[in-house]
Amino acid sequence: MKDNVIKLKRPDLRRYLAPINTASTQQLFTDCLILGSGVAGLRAAIEAASAGSEVILVCKKNLEDSNTWNAQGGIASVLDSEDSFSSHINDTLKTGCGICNLDTVEQVVKDGPALVKELLEWGTEFDKTKDGEISITLEGGHSHARIAHAHGDNTGRAIAEALIHKVKNLDNITIFENYYAIDLITNDNGVCLGATGRNSNDTMEIIWAKATILATGGAGRLYRETTNPDVATADGLAIAARAGAVLRDMEFMQFHPTTLYIAGASRALITETLRGEGAILRDINHNTFMAEYHPNAELAPRDIVSRAILAQMLKTGSTHVYLDIRHFDKNFFGKRFPLISEIVASFDIDITKDLIPVRPSAHYMVGGVKTDKLAQTNIKNLFACGEVASTGLHGANRLGSNSLLEGLVFGRIAGRQASMLSEKQNGHPGLRKFKYDIPTSDRSRLDTADVLNSLKSLMWRNVGIIRFAKPLAETQEIIAFWQRYVLDKVFDSASGWECQNMLTVCLMMAKAAEERTESRGTHFRDDHPQTDDANFKTHIEFE
Ligand code: FUM
Repeated sequence: MKDNVIKLKRPDLRRYLAPINTASTQQLFTDCLILGSGVAGLRAAIEAASAGSEVILVCKKNLEDSNTWNAQGGIASVLDSEDSFSSHINDTLKTGCGICNLDTVEQVVKDGPALVKELLEWGTEFDKTKDGEISITLEGGHSHARIAHAHGDNTGRAIAEALIHKVKNLDNITIFENYYAIDLITNDNGVCLGATGRNSNDTMEIIWAKATILATGGAGRLYRETTNPDVATADGLAIAARAGAVLRDMEFMQFHPTTLYIAGASRALITETLRGEGAILRDINHNTFMAEYHPNAELAPRDIVSRAILAQMLKTGSTHVYLDIRHFDKNFFGKRFPLISEIVASFDIDITKDLIPVRPSAHYMVGGVKTDKLAQTNIKNLFACGEVASTGLHGANRLGSNSLLEGLVFGRIAGRQASMLSEKQNGHPGLRKFKYDIPTSDRSRLDTADVLNSLKSLMWRNVGIIRFAKPLAETQEIIAFWQRYVLDKVFDSASGWECQNMLTVCLMMAKAAEERTESRGTHFRDDHPQTDDANFKTHIEFE
């Protein structure tokens, strides 16, 4: 085996996207600054505030705009006496294909049941059995039913609503919505001192914080086809990279097998729990095919189902496959999957007669900012949790419904650590005077909207479900070209900063995918289809 970790050099990046001048910028001070309002950010805020810290939580749009809010299937945890921690641990390790961190997996799995029950106490209306127990279902890769759900397929929303309610009732949490976090500020010793951002009145601000928690979520919007909301543009990953954080496992983007595929419609997630309840995949000719690809057929791990769908699309020359739920009882379907019922009905799909057109799309960023078991990054006073973090739980592939659980576990840890850290500090760490100028670029300016469209198509084509060396190399050349004309500019709008962030992260993803000349988990190289434990049972890190 090569060294424990394959190290790549982080791309050279301008330290800050926008100029900073403390003399002319509005400044705020807090104990704990949290960027992001998904499950991890909200849980961190509750923990830090409950321990007595002053908390500022900022989010890019509204509190509700997150992958958490959109999560359908549920939250995985050992909630049945016939299930066991060892079974959930083994399923997570198996799906992670040899590069999960065992301590992290054990911790998340073991903390799970208490945190799910805490959510119940805080008002999440999990669906219950007739006996009053939390109702659980199956998903691919799980060898036991352990997916708790709420309001049918509205689980994420139910969890987020309970956490948001709690956050809003804690006096020491200040929430800023429609707030674009631009950069983390670090001092000469590399210690994180807070962040710069643009508030909802379009005013630039600095928020000085004794501890900062990055919980900015995912990166699905880097791809043309994605289940993610439009806020998921990988900002946190780029912000962290510019500040000097180690990014790990960037080649592992998880593709969800079943996204509604109707040209012109948004790519709504069609939850995997539908297959857990017996939905069948059929190709364009209405033939079943999953059994040809995996003994667990529809319930194989996501990467296998996604690739099988792609292969079947290729074989049959089609743009999609179908989910068949014609055998479902209509009342059961309406009750158990109210969100999907609404979505399919809005396209006049009658589930008793019609098939649902689906195909895979980008869903979850498995890699991220490397953290330790206390959610600490390599940057002092900076913690990370949720999808933006790489805790070691998922390895090379995430087991379905483990992400909400991870967000709860590490959100709580990050909140607690941040609060303890801020308690220890006397006075505020802000830089009394700080100025960062950026020279004007004399290079031509590209149309960022056009660059982004092309970038998303490029990522989908070349850094998608099936990868090859040459297109991965070409992708880096094309991105590097765009970067020359976009990263040197100073923008004053979220769309410009987003474009800069997306180019930054995509380049690292393509580079890591080129470097990993094997197939493992979500990363499939058609030119290296085997798993190569001798050389790659390890992580790729940018540092
Ligand atoms: O299919 C789903 O409901 C997705 C679940 C997940 O991403 O964990």
